[in-house]
Amino acid sequence: MTENVAKTALITGASRGLGVALAHRLAREGWTLIIDARGERDLEAARADLADLTRVVAIPGDVTDEDHRRALAGAARDAGGLDALINNASILGPSPQPTLLDYPLDTLKEVYRANAIAPLALIQTVRDELRPGARILNVTSDAAVEPYEGWGGYGSSKAALEQLSNILAAENPDLRVYRVDPGDMRTRLQQEAFPDEDISDRPPPEESVPGLVELLTGDLPSGRYEARALIHVNEG
Ligand SMILES: NC(=O)c1ccc[n+]([C@@H]2O[C@H](COP(=O)([O-])OP(=O)(O)OC[C@H]3O[C@@H](n4cnc5c(N)ncnc54)[C@H](OP(=O)(O)O)[C@@H]3O)[C@@H](O)[C@H]2O)c1
Repeated sequence: MTENVAKTALITGASRGLGVALAHRLAREGWTLIIDARGERDLEAARADLADLTRVVAIPGDVTDEDHRRALAGAARDAGGLDALINNASILGPSPQPTLLDYPLDTLKEVYRANAIAPLALIQTVRDELRPGARILNVTSDAAVEPYEGWGGYGSSKAALEQLSNILAAENPDLRVYRVDPGDMRTRLQQEAFPDEDISDRPPPEESVPGLVELLTGDLPSGRYEARALIHVNEG
């Protein structure tokens, strides 16, 4: 592989919010992109915008679905391999969020499937497509480590994702596995979490992107990072 070959990233959940903000930044820097989301119309709108900037393949589907994950891996193979996998797609669960004593367990399973099991499953599915030096970014949350009342479902799913990332990194010293907290952002997920609040004071997701880019292009070791604390390293 020569240095001039375009890098390729697979970003899940890139039809809005942090995913599409990161996709735009990488597109401007010439990365080839593979993106997904469940909602076809929003994904197609994102793809059309990004296609003005770079080569982009959009595959609608649900990361919890095995066939969809295989389709993403196929696109990664067609692109010649991946330099980055960004497990960004997530669901909050019910809005407003129930406390744990009242949390419907079938719903909890769905939250765990989307936020913890699907990211690992996707890593397993694309493992042969990871180029030397590839980075895996698993997007987490401070809710994974803080005891916020009402955040037991989503928060514990992110805690599982964090420890999966931690151990995956230990088991694969040749890979860089990052778990990264983007901080509060003005997105649909944040509005679902605070359904009765005006969230216009939260920063836009674009402010978390430079920190993610630092993880994708810098030389940091595997570990847990807060995206906005990395911004001074890579002013975006
Ligand atoms: N917003 C915050 O304040 C905040 C704070 C800490 C961490 N985070 C984390 O940051 C990441 C991005 O969140 P966001 O705020 O940008 O959320 P968002 O605006 O709700 O966007 C989520 C994206 O993921 C897609 N998605 C959701 N479930 C999916 C599934 N099962 N399969 C495929 N795509 C799926 C959504 O599209 P469809 O719905 O059409 O599938 C959408 O494109 C998440 O990991 C979230 O946990 C967010």
